[in-house]
Amino acid sequence: MNLTETLPTRYYSDPAIWEIERHQIFAKTWIMIGHDHDLPRAGDYLAESIAGWPIFVQRAGDDSLRAFHNLCPHRAGPIVWEGTGHQANLVCRYHGWAFDKEGLLINARDFGGEAPAGTCLTKIRAQSWRGFIFVCLDPSVPDLIEWLAGFIEECEAYPTDDYVFHSRTIRHTAMNWKVYNDNFLEGYHLPLVHPAMSKEVEALAYRVEGKGDPRWNIHTAPRRDGQTWSGVWGYFYPTFSFDVFPGGMAIERWLPVGNGQTDLIFEYFFADDADGIEEIIKDSEEVADEDVRVAEMVQKNLQAGLYTTGWLSPRHEHALDEFHQLVHAAVDPYLA
Ligand code: FES
Ligand SMILES: [Fe+2]
Repeated sequence: MNLTETLPTRYYSDPAIWEIERHQIFAKTWIMIGHDHDLPRAGDYLAESIAGWPIFVQRAGDDSLRAFHNLCPHRAGPIVWEGTGHQANLVCRYHGWAFDKEGLLINARDFGGEAPAGTCLTKIRAQSWRGFIFVCLDPSVPDLIEWLAGFIEECEAYPTDDYVFHSRTIRHTAMNWKVYNDNFLEGYHLPLVHPAMSKEVEALAYRVEGKGDPRWNIHTAPRRDGQTWSGVWGYFYPTFSFDVFPGGMAIERWLPVGNGQTDLIFEYFFADDADGIEEIIKDSEEVADEDVRVAEMVQKNLQAGLYTTGWLSPRHEHALDEFHQLVHAAVDPYLA
């Protein structure tokens, strides 16, 4: 039997590959960065760094979203501070240059000269789907709804609109973003890494199913008691996923900060009448801790110089191969 090999170690550690990924993956896909609830009023903003690209999204007066690189054309100052906040006007935090709603310079404060005509912020796209706000740096990529394609229909059955934001946790992890992808895309590790979870669900029956589009898949695991529907996980390339369960859902996404640093973000949403919220969050956080613990060890081992490639389980790890092929297709044409 011909076994499929893993992505070679170099892809998890080489700064040159990370630099290609920044341009060819994270600047060319829709990346989820927040939720409508983060920006309730006109002027509210959310600033984030996506694989080293500083961006912000702001709620406009007509309730639409506008987004720009968070970088001033004068001397690269920030237009808004990081995180969430409220700022009525687009005025640079460094020397106070002011920009209009479209990002065009309207006043170069006390400059003492004429700023070049047409000086402006760099606009990017922000669009939302079911309250999830995504941004895309590349104007040639299709609109979000077209981009998500069949994933939208697949998710129609899940009542995510009924759930209200509850809380968020963030882990700053020491791993390349793809180590977390690899871990997320298989249930093979469940009995070893998640013993408590494996008492509840049939770990060996964990299924990762694609529907013909390698960018997304749906995961299910039956409960051992055979009674209750336990939920479903959905994944969309490169780093967006959710877990819908009775009474609520968790958004699980990971934002690369650098080649070997990734922020893992969980956001919990619940129905008004949901039961056992604290318990659900506690169990989910325990599973996340278990995943991060093993994944950070994997990252260290990948960098130890002892291993180049391994083999993927034909039974459990087929989705990793699809993911690795997407990475190869994006990166390899630019490899030196
Ligand atoms: S860097 Fe923005 S005004 Fe100077
Ligand atoms: Fe896991």
